[in-house]
Amino acid sequence: MIGQALQRQTFVPIPDFINVDSVSFRFDGRQLALGNVKLTIPLGQFVCLLGPSGCGKTTLLNLIAGFLAPTDGYVFVNGKVVDGPGPDRGMVFQDYSLFPWLTVLKNIEFGPDIAGMRASARRERAMHYLDLVNLGHIADSYPTQLSGGMKQRVAIARALAAGPKVLLMDEPFAALDAMTRSKLQLELIRIHELERPTILFVTHNIDEAIRLADRVLVMSPNPGRVVSDVTIDMEKPRARTSVEFSRLYDRFEAEIGLESS
Ligand SMILES: Nc1ncnc2c1ncn2[C@@H]1O[C@H](COP(=O)(O)OP(=O)(O)OP(=O)(O)O)[C@@H](O)[C@H]1O
Ligand SMILES: [Mg+2]
Repeated sequence: MIGQALQRQTFVPIPDFINVDSVSFRFDGRQLALGNVKLTIPLGQFVCLLGPSGCGKTTLLNLIAGFLAPTDGYVFVNGKVVDGPGPDRGMVFQDYSLFPWLTVLKNIEFGPDIAGMRASARRERAMHYLDLVNLGHIADSYPTQLSGGMKQRVAIARALAAGPKVLLMDEPFAALDAMTRSKLQLELIRIHELERPTILFVTHNIDEAIRLADRVLVMSPNPGRVVSDVTIDMEKPRARTSVEFSRLYDRFEAEIGLESS
């Protein structure tokens, strides 16, 4: 607890940790998927990207991850231009994407292994993150033996174990039932408070965005761009029953409804 309190006190946000500088992107022969997106995110902030299908959320994540290169403009992370994927940015997808031939523990050790960490140190690190997602007891299971929610927790532990400053999450909870989703949202809030990664979390779900985010960016399509930028100061975890929660819900619903009509 003392460690946690200290970590919170000494956390100093670095402004412009992620800087999407006038970025446009076009898939070959198609209309602009993103048009002149300008956006900065300080270190440690939990940002949700909210917007209708096809507005460019995944494309924006892939540009920050370095899987795609901008047609125009630049993406900077920690002052350096992004020109490919790197261990400073971890990605969590909707479909778990674990290696089925490796145990849970080996899946999580994968990143530290690639980074050249010694066997005992990476085992300890993998167990730390497995415990953090409350799955220490299934270290030797294989992914096929796990439920969807468990697989997604392993995927989060695996991304964190690689030690990224930035966690890029593309609808990671979309395939889960409401109860599991709610539990994982709370777990992610706790992990964010403990480890303070910068998180960019894509969701279609307004309720999820309000529960999780320090800041919500609403995107709109044709071309994809950010149309609304809202900081949420409410203490987490957040009660859906609060007046502020429903006020924000109505606001985002109106913005997304208007943008997608
Ligand atoms: N590989 C591709 N080739 C051509 N066009 C693509 C490709 N991937 C996406 N697009 C187009 O780019 C636009 C943005 O797509 P993107 O996948 O980023 O949207 P999204 O906001 O993530 O949507 P969803 O919420 O459905 O996941 C869409 O018009 C889509 O049709
Ligand atoms: Mg998408």
